[in-house]
Amino acid sequence: MTIMEAIRGDITQFDVDAIVNAANTSLMGGGGVDGAIHRAAGPELVAECMTLNGCRTGEAKITKGYRLKARHIIHSVGPVWHGGGKGEPELLRSCYTNSLKLAAAHDLQSIAFPCISTGVYRFPPGQAAEIAVAAAREFLRQPSSVQRVIFCCFSDQDRQRYEALIECKTQQQ
Ligand code: AR6
Repeated sequence: MTIMEAIRGDITQFDVDAIVNAANTSLMGGGGVDGAIHRAAGPELVAECMTLNGCRTGEAKITKGYRLKARHIIHSVGPVWHGGGKGEPELLRSCYTNSLKLAAAHDLQSIAFPCISTGVYRFPPGQAAEIAVAAAREFLRQPSSVQRVIFCCFSDQDRQRYEALIECKTQQQ
């Protein structure tokens, strides 16, 4: 049995196998959730990121969690919203799918996602939530190590959106 759930909170505080970072292609840190994760993880994180040679939009790379409770950080780069005609939905879906694949490749059981691209990158939050839940649901159809997928929402509005999409919190596979 796998679980999908929406929790309102600060992702830097989550005790899971991996939290996902809404990074940029440099992987060198930035504002928003990226800045919060780098501050909480400590300077060792940027040192490891420097060895990764950046990350393309829609892809994902993994590091240790350093000072976080989370054991790993999966850095994924969401698309900047340009109106939706530049492949933004597909790229956002790839962020979720590639992060989940990477978690499974590392035999991880629990993963928490922020609402990738919905801050500075301006992706419409309702559409982003639909894409995130659909991608996770599709991924969880196949057996893998991943047992728990958390959508970490910073606002109550986002939490409500995700809860409505997840409908029944516990998904019997
Ligand atoms: N925990 C959970 N969610 C958070 C937190 C937190 N501590 N802080 C912010 N959010 P954004 P993007 C939410 O802008 O749109 C950075 O500079 C926030 O409310 O962090 O993918 C990177 O370096 C929003 O819902 O990421 C990139 O340059 C969501 O996280 C760029 O921003 C994503 O907002 C990426 O932009």
